[in-house]
Amino acid sequence: MVDNSLSLRSRIEELKREKNAVILAHYYTMPEVQEIADFLGDSLALSVKAQDIDADIILFAGVHFMAETAKVLCPHKKVLIPCPEAGCSLAESCDAAEFAEFKKRYPDHKVVSYVNTTVGVKALTDVCCTSSNALQVVESIPADQPIIFAPDRNLGGYIKKLTGCENMVLWNGACHVHEEFSLEKLLQLKTEHPAAKVVVHPECRAYIIEVADFVGSTAAILDYCGRSDAQEFIVVTESGILSEMQKRYPAKTFIPAPPDDETCGCNNCKYMKMVTLENICSCLENEAPEILLDEPTRQAAERSIKNMIAIK
Ligand code: 13P
Repeated sequence: MVDNSLSLRSRIEELKREKNAVILAHYYTMPEVQEIADFLGDSLALSVKAQDIDADIILFAGVHFMAETAKVLCPHKKVLIPCPEAGCSLAESCDAAEFAEFKKRYPDHKVVSYVNTTVGVKALTDVCCTSSNALQVVESIPADQPIIFAPDRNLGGYIKKLTGCENMVLWNGACHVHEEFSLEKLLQLKTEHPAAKVVVHPECRAYIIEVADFVGSTAAILDYCGRSDAQEFIVVTESGILSEMQKRYPAKTFIPAPPDDETCGCNNCKYMKMVTLENICSCLENEAPEILLDEPTRQAAERSIKNMIAIK
């Protein structure tokens, strides 16, 4: 029997060489997709990486807003997205026209938007943030400056609590994966594994964040699991990260936290899992679908991303 995935992988490698293409992938994609990536990272690392990639084509193995972000930063490169239907519940919760109306109600507010937004919302934003740098971004703004934080009410609420920033208005959006974790089941797992550390992504609800030993982005969680003396971790984020955890720290044990309804498989981002070796291969063959952006919108969005990258 022919190993289909082996031949797909070698065809993808061949196409990458032939077309001078690189593949960027997020930790939430499927393990076989992560394996063929040239760069694997969290949202911040991938945005920064996109800027200095020396290639003609960037194929983004991730969801739509991530590929859009790469195109915003690399307008002269061809940016491909293998599955344009791979959306994001957060980005979809914040329509640019509705956001523009919302913004009018707070004319003296600065807008901080999570990178999980469409290019249209980024164009209405003063400074973007990711889960890695949201705290630094908000702290870089004078304390008396009112802020709109969009679109994730959980990340916004967490940052509001950390900074004590009272002048922060939150857009009411959430991630369908991170909202689903069950506190009851998490507490049960903690009882069964008393030595385990609980690592949580800040897109989770406040009552889940409260029981965390560590809160951070996917990259920060990976680092924490490496430097912690603990041998066991209860992982409260999208389950795609588990393959990289096991690869980096094979002697440690990682236990995925269950969602409320375990039959729904919703600690899996269905959008990230829409990226496959098959659609990556055909996307490289056809050099399509490609991300194309309206130039004024791109330029406005670029300012907000560059403002973020400039904050150290
Ligand atoms: P990070 O990559 O910043 O951890 O965020 C994950 C995420 O929400 C992807 O949609």
